[in-house]
Amino acid sequence: MKKRQHDIFNCELIVISGKGGVGKTTIAAALGLLASAAAKQTIVCEVAGQSRVPTLIGHPTAGGPGTEECVAPDLWTTTIDPELALVEWASKLIRPRALLDLAVRSNSFSGFINAAPGGRELLTITKAAELSRDQRWNGDADGYELVILDAPASGHGLAMLKTPTTFSQIARVGPIANQAREVESLLADSQRCRIVLVSTLEETPVNETLELDAALAKQLGRGADLIIANGLITDNLSEQELAELAGAAIDAVAVAAIKLRHGRATIQQQQLERLRAGAQCPLITLPAITSHAVGPDELEQLAALLDAELTLLA
Ligand SMILES: Nc1ncnc2c1ncn2[C@@H]1O[C@H](COP(=O)(O)OP(=O)(O)OP(=O)(O)O)[C@@H](O)[C@H]1O
Ligand SMILES: [Mg+2]
Repeated sequence: MKKRQHDIFNCELIVISGKGGVGKTTIAAALGLLASAAAKQTIVCEVAGQSRVPTLIGHPTAGGPGTEECVAPDLWTTTIDPELALVEWASKLIRPRALLDLAVRSNSFSGFINAAPGGRELLTITKAAELSRDQRWNGDADGYELVILDAPASGHGLAMLKTPTTFSQIARVGPIANQAREVESLLADSQRCRIVLVSTLEETPVNETLELDAALAKQLGRGADLIIANGLITDNLSEQELAELAGAAIDAVAVAAIKLRHGRATIQQQQLERLRAGAQCPLITLPAITSHAVGPDELEQLAALLDAELTLLA
């Protein structure tokens, strides 16, 4: 059955960032499952040589660098390779074809990528934007209705989102400036591009999330559109119930474990309040559903929980 489409999917590009290890890739994959279940042709993009999403979804192969692998109905995954993206982009501009081949063989593209600070990041975000264009660089392919970018962690993610502005100012005129300006206006537009920040409920990730949100507002002229507090643990025990535990005839190890979990849940609640107080956009929570790594079954479970939270937002 076709599922309801959430407002967050009503755009061209969703960029996901947040501190390292907070669940960005997991949530990118879960959002991919939900968007494709709403029959939206969706591609989840990984960067920096990562290709975890196909396995997470339960698909046996990831495809080669730069390829778009269909992993489920209406769902594709890819790993953006900046150098391949540059060759693909240049193939529109460099004629004849033999000259392009010569440039590839002489390693000119690697030279550009390694010499221009931010070149790699510019190509990554530009390629992500290109995947949603009706007019793809490779004229044979169709654009996706939704691109979900599992972006680099906080500082690197922000740097990547700033590169189109930097390059459009440096180049001013010509194809690089035009291309950079196109991506710059996509990223600045909250209707076309949604930024999702993922955080766990500890002091440092919460600090980093609030700082990143403020930096986005300052440097891109728009903040995040949604914050997802991931890995929430709840125990619903009152302080009185805990005090009573000490006197009860229960194994001391079990009591210690219950107290430890209660302590963590209490700290998380404090951090959640801090995150809520500082957030300038809607915030939803996702529970910690396993102590092991998330696999395809757990991902489905997380997607269902995410679906319910996004429904409440509407
Ligand atoms: N809600 C959750 N419940 C239980 N485990 C989770 C949850 N979300 C993520 N995880 C687990 O946390 C770990 C980190 O998740 P993930 O790889 O998605 O984070 P990341 O932000 O993409 O990390 P990196 O910055 O290294 O790319 C993984 O082992 C994942 O299975
Ligand atoms: Mg990741």
